[in-house]
Amino acid sequence: MQIISSLSELRTARLSLTGRVGLVPTMGYLHEGHLSLVRRAKEECDHAIVTIFVNPTQFGANEDLSKYPRDMERDLNLLHPLGVDVVWTPTAEIIYPPGYQTWVEVDALTKGLEGAMRPGHFRGVATVVAKLFNATQPHKAYFGQKDAQQAAVIRRMAVDLNFPLEVIISPTTREADGLAMSSRNKYLNEAERKAATVLFRALSAAKELYEAGERDGETLRRKMKDVLSNESLVQVQYVSCADYDSLEELDVVTGKTLLSMAVYLGKTRLIDNFVLG
Ligand code: PAF
Repeated sequence: MQIISSLSELRTARLSLTGRVGLVPTMGYLHEGHLSLVRRAKEECDHAIVTIFVNPTQFGANEDLSKYPRDMERDLNLLHPLGVDVVWTPTAEIIYPPGYQTWVEVDALTKGLEGAMRPGHFRGVATVVAKLFNATQPHKAYFGQKDAQQAAVIRRMAVDLNFPLEVIISPTTREADGLAMSSRNKYLNEAERKAATVLFRALSAAKELYEAGERDGETLRRKMKDVLSNESLVQVQYVSCADYDSLEELDVVTGKTLLSMAVYLGKTRLIDNFVLG
């Protein structure tokens, strides 16, 4: 496993990889969700590149970049047994050289949901992912369904900017009690961790209604809100029942649909979603 920070060394390493290359972009502090993406990349491609970069431009002014969890040694130890070929750990100066002023903006898809709560977030995500695609030239790039809007934005961007690669979205990896795996879960205290299963319970309750034949978007949103409101530690930011591709809120569910939500548990912000249909 080659561990590289400079761009020129990465380019040399990339040139030496013949066959199909799978990319797993991460911000580090890896958990089983990331590792399952790496395993899938290894299964489906000849080589796997993992990037570890805590991207400053996707953090808002009120989101503490300096407190984002980091543990490079642990991350590398987790990646080593998986047969990763290259780990790229660029510095912020490599990704954003002095005088930097070029940005990728995905329009309508970034207006609602996470985009409405976190202005500028998806501009940072789309820009860094485009740069990671350019630097690593993968055939396939792997992302988790947990960040559903991010997945939609990256799929759109890859098509719009003619990246010659396939964007693969893998199902969310969950703890035994249903909590979606996330680097942020480590911020939860014991009571919050227990309460955090309410996201999975709310999504499951709405899915059950859907499976029983309910197609009214507002009824599904109300069901999720009702379940969340039973948990006193939870503060709801949004609950959504939207079209899977356009992310527009639905009055009536017809095709592939995204149920999603964001809540605060204490100071920790959690998101989760289910795909229906
Ligand atoms: O999902 C993440 O970890 C990040 O948003 C990504 C895609 C690595 C871009 O910084």
